[in-house]
Amino acid sequence: MAKDTISVTDNRTGKTYELPIENGTIRAMDLRQIKVDKEDFGLMTYDPSLGNTASCKSAITFIDGDKGILRYRGYPIDQLAEKSTYLETAYLIVKGELPNREHLDAWTYNITMHTMLHENTKKFMEGFRYDAHPMGMLVGTVAALSTFYPDAKDIHDIECRRLQVRRLIGKMPTIAAYAYRYSLGLPYVQPDNELTYCGNFLSMLFRMTERNYKPNPVLERALEVLFILHADHEQNCSANAMRAVGSSRVDPYSATAAAAAALYGPLHGGANEEAVNMLQEIGSADKIPAFIKSVKAGERKLMGFGHRVYKNYDPRAKIIKKIAYEVFEVTGRNPLIDVAVELERIALEDEYFISRKLYPNVDFYSGIIYQALGFPASLFPVLFAIPRTSGWLAQWAENVIDPDQKITRPRQIFTGEAERSYVPIETRPAPQTLERKLLRGRL
Ligand code: CMC
Repeated sequence: MAKDTISVTDNRTGKTYELPIENGTIRAMDLRQIKVDKEDFGLMTYDPSLGNTASCKSAITFIDGDKGILRYRGYPIDQLAEKSTYLETAYLIVKGELPNREHLDAWTYNITMHTMLHENTKKFMEGFRYDAHPMGMLVGTVAALSTFYPDAKDIHDIECRRLQVRRLIGKMPTIAAYAYRYSLGLPYVQPDNELTYCGNFLSMLFRMTERNYKPNPVLERALEVLFILHADHEQNCSANAMRAVGSSRVDPYSATAAAAAALYGPLHGGANEEAVNMLQEIGSADKIPAFIKSVKAGERKLMGFGHRVYKNYDPRAKIIKKIAYEVFEVTGRNPLIDVAVELERIALEDEYFISRKLYPNVDFYSGIIYQALGFPASLFPVLFAIPRTSGWLAQWAENVIDPDQKITRPRQIFTGEAERSYVPIETRPAPQTLERKLLRGRL
């Protein structure tokens, strides 16, 4: 009868160990018993960038990268994108079930009641340079919120956690909109609680002198869908940052700032900005072959392509590509879409991309829509961070209450010098010899 175990023979000692297999994994700690002798620390795994390590158990988001499947709490992403709203999806992600009418109304009310910023937060934001990147402003301001809400430190209290979740989801669009208005020298627009989450965000961004700002329903819905698609994505770089930083038991504002900082990078949430810049640089379809050639030569990356988990078309990119055309009905066609579609066509027929299973990801088409909606490229990562906040908070809360979790603290393989004695400065090597020894290219 087959057993859920694996036998490992250590050829250094000839000893065999039987390790349990659970959920298709072995516990890395079970390897520690594998030792050459009593003094030996025990076997570890080497997994830079955690490509084959499950760092947690999670019930939030399921991805099958080979089949291109994405589900939040069991619900397929295409059904949520078609039928849900961002706040309903955020409730699902944070609490685990779709809300009934009463719960959705209460959730919406509670979040809407937290959209305003303390006046001092605004003053804090005004300390940034006039041309500060809005994502830098967002990261800094979210971290600063921890100083406004010291009560947030009580992370083991469920009511305290719930309050911070409402505050953060409520305030993210306001911080983002203020960062945008500040960069243009425009007055801040107070949140309008009569509007939807996305409608209010559009109002805070774009309202000028209108008495009542009425967002275009097609554009409002497009933003809603984009927010749903970006709400969570299991253990990506920023979710991992949220969990790792949160594992020190710091308050959720500080952990969210760390997650947002991770998202800012061009390989993660900054890729949408990079993708649009790249399409703009390519400019027209006739320049695509030369561009592809430079990608294949390793000179640059095709931004918005490739994924650690998806080895098939990212299901979010499929939905985004479709809504792009709905948005263009209202805004007029963004000519970059033609470059993007042709770039995708050529790439998907090219052996380089086929053999590496590189497909468009969520960032390939989202920037084109954001641009059509009137957002500057620097705001794109911020538009990713707003909806991802619900995902980060769900991941964080799951980590806080998981009895398996402790402070995140990986191991290393030490490759530096063995012990050596301090050398007085007068007897250290001549400049040329020292120069050769310095870790050039690293720092
Ligand atoms: N353009 C050209 N080549 C690529 C690309 C790309 N976008 N992505 C991967 N490759 C190549 C890579 O050079 C490597 O080739 P080789 O085997 O010859 O060395 C191979 O494909 C495997 O790539 P990898 O770097 O080992 O894959 P990874 O899992 O470490 O990286 C990734 C995943 C998303 C960072 C990477 O695909 C990438 O840099 N893409 C561009 C940036 C991007 O669009 N990021 C958004 C990701 S989706 C939204 C999010 O969750 O943030």
